[in-house]
Parts: sequence; C-alpha cells; structure tokens
Amino acid sequence: MREGFKSVLEFLEADLEIEEEQEHLYNQLAAVSKDVKVKETFQHLARAAKGHKDALGRIIRDIESDNHDVSFYCLMCGWEIDFGKMPSVGNEERCSLCCQKFALVDVDNDYAIKYLPQ
Ligand SMILES: [Fe+2]
Repeated sequence: MREGFKSVLEFLEADLEIEEEQEHLYNQLAAVSKDVKVKETFQHLARAAKGHKDALGRIIRDIESDNHDVSFYCLMCGWEIDFGKMPSVGNEERCSLCCQKFALVDVDNDYAIKYLPQ
C-alpha cells in the first residue's frame, strides 16, 4: 500500500466497486428495456458510470505509481498547500497565501498536516 494514502485508497476502491456495479446494472437494464427512450437513458447512465470508474482507476494508479501530488487545504486560510509527489513525512511547506508553516505527518498510514507555530 502506498504510504500516506491508506484511507484515500480504501474510499477510492469502494467507489470504484460501486461504479462497476452500477455500470453492470445499467447495461442489464438497458438490454431488457423495450422502450427506446428508457433504453437510451440506461445506456447513458452506464456510460456515465464507466466514465466515473475509469477516472477513479486513473487516480488509484497515479497514487500507486507515486504520480500524485500530496496537497492539503491550509488549516488557517483554506488555500492549497502542495507537498508535491512522493513527499517525506516531516517535510515542511508554507501556505503561499497566509505564510503559515505546516509539516507533513503520518497518522495511521494517512498523510495529515500539523501546524508549526512560528
Ligand atoms: Fe494559509
């Protein structure tokens, strides 16, 4: 498992499974639908579920191949703080908006940030 992404990967895998189930269900419903408009609606829903599934799969692959930025919202102002790809726990970054400093920490295999008072 990729360090720091335990919960994120669990949520993404669960979402991926739901999208797979939905795609399968919508395709089945489209196949048995007699009404053309109902059939098209289920086909549209199946394509949407497939799009979601593919997007989730790309994110999971990016995380597992360390090709995913680790970023958080600033705890003070809400601006994005980017720790980049493959950061080390203990790395420090400043919020580019409010200039407060934060450290990347690990909490049970999930990345988190800790405010560093100045
Ligand atoms: Fe900030």
